[in-house]
Amino acid sequence: MAKQKLKRFAEFSSWDNCFDFPYEIKGKWNKDVFKNSHPIVLELGCGKGEYTVALAKRYPDKNYLGVDIKSNRMWVGAKMAKEENLTHIAFMRAIMHKIDTIIGEGEADEIWITFPDPFLRSKSAKHRLTHTRFLRLYKKILKPGGTIHLKTDSDDLFTFTVNMLQHLGIQPIALEEDVHGNPDAPEILKEVKTYYERLFMNKGSTIKYISFNLSTFSEEQAIAFEEWFERERLRRVALGLSTGL
Ligand SMILES: C[S@@+](CC[C@H](N)C(=O)[O-])C[C@H]1O[C@@H](n2cnc3c(N)ncnc32)[C@H](O)[C@@H]1O
Repeated sequence: MAKQKLKRFAEFSSWDNCFDFPYEIKGKWNKDVFKNSHPIVLELGCGKGEYTVALAKRYPDKNYLGVDIKSNRMWVGAKMAKEENLTHIAFMRAIMHKIDTIIGEGEADEIWITFPDPFLRSKSAKHRLTHTRFLRLYKKILKPGGTIHLKTDSDDLFTFTVNMLQHLGIQPIALEEDVHGNPDAPEILKEVKTYYERLFMNKGSTIKYISFNLSTFSEEQAIAFEEWFERERLRRVALGLSTGL
């Protein structure tokens, strides 16, 4: 393994703002780590964590927790936070679909999902981070009414999310089809860019954003959506249609 990666792994394990599958902190992030009672904001799949750091600098009255499976990437954001003495930022290595084993019930106030893999094949839809399978997890770990933000370059993931919310009867809080092309889009969405956001913008992609909450989301709705989705997927496969779901 490359020397630099090994060094980063070692530092990530030793720094006090970095955590490796910290099951023991579940429900105690504010008490044990941030030492205050501020709202907690998660960034799922934070990569290098520069978005988490940039948001944290703008909002010192919130606590920020970047989550990713790759500690050598999060090392970048953790180092920035250390150098700038930002004690309201932490990074944790964890697997997203088990996030409720590390974040307690109602412990988070907001979730950012930034440029996740869109899992284009409809057969893999359950891996999309806005799929109902994940919304169930988010509902557990979010405070009632807590906001979920999605930023993506993917038209397919964005359309899937918009359609799914419509099916679930969830009204988006905000929706932007071209964040950087709209002079009226909120500054915070335009000013702060993730690593992948910059890569996709350089390739000419438009960046899309949607936010919503789960106050009306129920298990029955999730099951009804999943059954509809599977029926529709199979119908399209039987007709030889490229599914576009
Ligand atoms: C396309 S990158 C986006 C990174 C960052 N949000 C950005 O916009 O620059 C997706 C990130 O999600 C992480 N990831 C993918 N699947 C994951 C999982 N199951 N659990 C935790 N992290 C995961 C990857 O390691 C990667 O850093």
